[in-house]
Amino acid sequence: MSFANKSHSSIDMNPILNGRRMRRNRSSDWSRRLIRENTFTINDLIWPIFLIDGENKSDPVTSMPGVERFSVDRAVRAAEQAAELGIPVIALFPNTDPDLRDEMGSEALNEDNLTCRALRAIKAEGFPVGLMTDVALDPYTSHGHDGLMVGDKIVNDETVDQLCRQSLIQADAGSDIIAPSDMMDGRIGAIRNALDNNSYDDLQIMAYSAKYASAFYGPFRDAVGSNANLKGDKRTYQMDPGNTDEALKEAELDLEEGADMIMVKPGMPYLDILHRIKETFLAPTYAYQVSGEYAMICAAAQNGWMDKEKAMMESMMAFKRAGADGVLTYFAPEIAKKLNGK
Ligand code: PBG
Repeated sequence: MSFANKSHSSIDMNPILNGRRMRRNRSSDWSRRLIRENTFTINDLIWPIFLIDGENKSDPVTSMPGVERFSVDRAVRAAEQAAELGIPVIALFPNTDPDLRDEMGSEALNEDNLTCRALRAIKAEGFPVGLMTDVALDPYTSHGHDGLMVGDKIVNDETVDQLCRQSLIQADAGSDIIAPSDMMDGRIGAIRNALDNNSYDDLQIMAYSAKYASAFYGPFRDAVGSNANLKGDKRTYQMDPGNTDEALKEAELDLEEGADMIMVKPGMPYLDILHRIKETFLAPTYAYQVSGEYAMICAAAQNGWMDKEKAMMESMMAFKRAGADGVLTYFAPEIAKKLNGK
């Protein structure tokens, strides 16, 4: 029998397949591109940036290879770079001088604090980049907590009052997106009211709605210097990693209270939460690929155990697939350069 013989067509080499071959669509690059359901673009990026005092200063964060804390003038250059790369938003996180930290986190209400100075300096340049600011007290408190402490308790309502004032100060300095990361109850509604009553009704709020008490924040606490004196842990306000339904409730409350965008944090270990929140509320939903996730990928790559660029891009795709509208990631400039073909 010759192979050209048409009678071969009746021979089924593998009756179980019955013509169903999933690999057909994967057989070439063009076909894989045609079939792909999700894409990650530069428009999906938010770049978190750390600030320090001083001038012309970049201070490396040891636990986050490639990440530096920038003095205000350098932060302006970073914002310019973000604009050039097409990154839509940068998020500012201050490393406050230890001498300026106190029990009350008073520096959070100083209109000349590091964040406000950076906001004004960047705003003055008029770059087409949104500026997002962190609302929480941990970069300013001597005890490292996001809220005010009475005894060993983090007090909710007094903290919310302070967060409203912190939000207004950031708004005055030019913040475009107020992003409360503190997990106090009722803060989104209170901040929305405070903003509206001060003619900031157009200012957006991105709520850290489902923020877990996570070990993955370790390198960040180094970066902003809130680790050294952290008293205890944050489990009385950040969520228990064992819970899902509670995350949906948090997101629901934040949206009801006026959040324009919501966030899930950490990112990769919590893709199930991201997915359920997105599916349930259909609101703009973001993932924070936190410092520990960044550090893990970099550390494995430094050891030659993983390809950094591939792991970085694959993680972005995972966020999109789970339903993210965007991702806060320290890889943002690197990803943007890659997507720009630079
Ligand atoms: C605290 C805050 C944290 C992060 C952002 N805002 C850490 C914490 O809750 O201690 C973590 C971000 C990261 O790990 O990259 N307001």
